[in-house]
Amino acid sequence: MKKLAFLILITSLTLFANEPKLTGKKVFQTYCWGCHHQTAMAFGPPFSEIAKKRTKAEIEAYIASPKSMYKAFGYKRTVMTQLHLNAKELDLISNYILSFKGKK
Ligand code: HEC
Repeated sequence: MKKLAFLILITSLTLFANEPKLTGKKVFQTYCWGCHHQTAMAFGPPFSEIAKKRTKAEIEAYIASPKSMYKAFGYKRTVMTQLHLNAKELDLISNYILSFKGKK
C-alpha cells in the first residue's frame, strides 16, 4: 500500500514537472497570431501600437468582449473574434502586449 502511494506521488510529480508552462507568447500564438503581429500591422493593429495607447485593464476588457468595447476604442465596427480566455490567459496576454511598448 505504501509502495502504491509512493508510485502515485512520483507519477503525479513527473506529470506536473512535464506540463509546459503557459506564457503570454503561447497565448498569442494560439489565439491572436492569425490577426495580430507584435510590431507590424496585420488584420488587426500591432501589439506595439496597442501598448502605446491602452492600459492593462482596457486591453483585458477588449479581449474579453470586443463587442462591448469597440465604440469606446474609437472603432465603427468590430470584426475581432469573440474569444473565451480565462483570467490567467488574459493576465499573461495583456502583459505580453504591454511588453512591446516602445518597440518598432
Ligand atoms: C479574427 C481576427 C482577430 C483575432 C483572432 C484577434 N484579433 Fe484583436 N483585433 C482584430 C481587429 C480587426 C481589431 C480592430 C478592431 C476590431 O475589429 O475589433 C482588433 C482589436 C484588438 C484590440 C484593441 C486595439 C486597440 O485599438 O487598442 C486588442 C487589445 C486586441 N485586438 C487584442 C487581441 C488579442 C490579445 C487577441 C488574441 C488573444 C486577439 N486580439 C485576437 C482582429 C483579431
